[in-house]
Order: sequence, then C-alpha cells, then structure tokens
Amino acid sequence: MLLAYLRQLKAQGKTHLAVSDDARQTLRKLYRGELSLRREPDASQPQEEAMNPAQAPADSTPGTAAPLPEATPHAPQPVPTGETAEEKLASLREQAESWPPALELGSLRKRMVFATGNPTADLVLVGEAPGFQEEKQGEPFVGPAGEKLNQILKAMGLSREAVYISNICKFRPAMPGQTTNNRKPRPEEMEACLPFVRAELEIIRPKVVVALGATAAQGLLESTESVGKLRGNWHQFTGIPLRVTYHPSYLLHSDENALGEKRKVWEDMLAVMEKLELPITDKQRGYFQRKK
Ligand code: URA
Repeated sequence: MLLAYLRQLKAQGKTHLAVSDDARQTLRKLYRGELSLRREPDASQPQEEAMNPAQAPADSTPGTAAPLPEATPHAPQPVPTGETAEEKLASLREQAESWPPALELGSLRKRMVFATGNPTADLVLVGEAPGFQEEKQGEPFVGPAGEKLNQILKAMGLSREAVYISNICKFRPAMPGQTTNNRKPRPEEMEACLPFVRAELEIIRPKVVVALGATAAQGLLESTESVGKLRGNWHQFTGIPLRVTYHPSYLLHSDENALGEKRKVWEDMLAVMEKLELPITDKQRGYFQRKK
C-alpha cells in the first residue's frame, strides 16, 4: 500500500517528499523489521480507516491521500541455523553471500567478506567495509589498517584469534574504474548489512563492542556525531556496552600529532580492558604518553 501510494505520487510528477524526523525513524524501524504496520483488528475501531491528513507526507496533494498501509512485509532478516555459535555464524556467512538487500543496491561489489575470529569472544570489533586487500583475501582487516589493529590488540595482550572482527558493511563498496582504491560505505549500504551485525552480536553476546571509526560508530549508533564527540563514553548496541574509537587507518598517517592520537585510541582501549577485567600493568597504562 505504501509503495502504491508512493508510485501514485511519482506518477503525479512528485520527485521529493518531506519526511519528518519521527517518520524517518519509523521507516528505518520498518525497514529493519523492528516494527510492523500489521495491526491486530480492534473491535472498537472501524476496520477501513482513512489516512489522517496529519499523517500524510508534508507535500502530499490534498484529496489524494491513500489509506494507511495495512501491512508492510518485514525487511528480510537472516535466520541463523545450527547448534553452536560457530555453526550459527557459518550459516549467517552463507546467507550473506547472496544477500538481496545488499546486492540489489547495485553499488557494492559481489564478493562478500564476512568476519573473522572467535565465535565466543568477549570483545567484538566492528569496522566499516572490506577494502582491496580484504576482498582479495576474503577476510576483514588484513591490509595496512589490519596490521595496525593487530598491533593494538597485541598491546592489549590479545591476539586476533581471541577476538571477533567484523565490518558493518559486508561487501567492498564499488567505484567507477576501481583498482585498489576504496570508499566508505554509504548509509543504505550499511543499513542493508546491519541485520547481519545484529545477528552476529546476538549469537556471540560479547561483553564489549568497539566501533572502529566514524562510519561504523555512526552506523551502529544512528548518530551523525564525530568520533571526537562519541569516544570517551559508554554507549549501547542491542544492550551490549559499546565504545567508539578512531579507525586504525587514522593512526597510519604519522605526523606531529601521531602520539596524541595513539594515546587517545589507547585510552579507549584501556577503558575496554577495564570493562573486560583484563589485567593492566603500569607499563601498559603509560603507553603512548609524552616523556616528561
Ligand atoms: N577497514 C575497515 O573498516 N574494514 C576492513 O575490513 C578493512 C579496512
């Protein structure tokens, strides 16, 4: 019904609709399957209900309002199968390979890169999207940013195998004439893959999630704030404590601020280590501080 209504407006020559913030939030929830427009019949209400003009999109033509949609199919959700976390994650991986909401966008490359690491990890790190190296090797964070991430984990006393590393977008974003160049995923590309991130976290139920960089943080937290604003506090993603930090690739550009930036990331990781109740030595506490 909603689609029919939108098609009707399009046929009338409308190319834009003003949508309030509330309506946008509702549409997002519908898309993700968190909300259904299917209502239980209510005996006290007439069954055929005309659209309340106050609910019509701001620039809809008076007199052409269609009835409220009665049912919108839920956005497709992956359904994990299997007994163990490993089996369930493997079944998600299989479903992601040919995930229509992502592939039908036409803006992502076809080779899916899922995740790597421990299916029962206490710590899950989420980046933005696979790049050239990741697509080639079929594994997240294996290029230069991955090496930096490995160093960060090592400084925490953790190995890559001990944690779970994933991306908010499971396909390398495409670009015209693309060779080794990469781009950030767009909101709709992240949105299409988010059901997988949610399902992965539902299976793993880690103690902490770390969002690596602004793109992942904004996608997970539905925020437009910078990492500078989001880091330094605990957030929640599906009830799991989430910490935001800079993307490891940010630390690859060494300039005169590099030590200060490394320290910021390290302070975020110290907070994560405390939350995970990992042992922290005095030496570790002092990493990346300027010598006095
Ligand atoms: N950057 C990311 O965010 N993810 C990767 O997998 C690689 C680089």
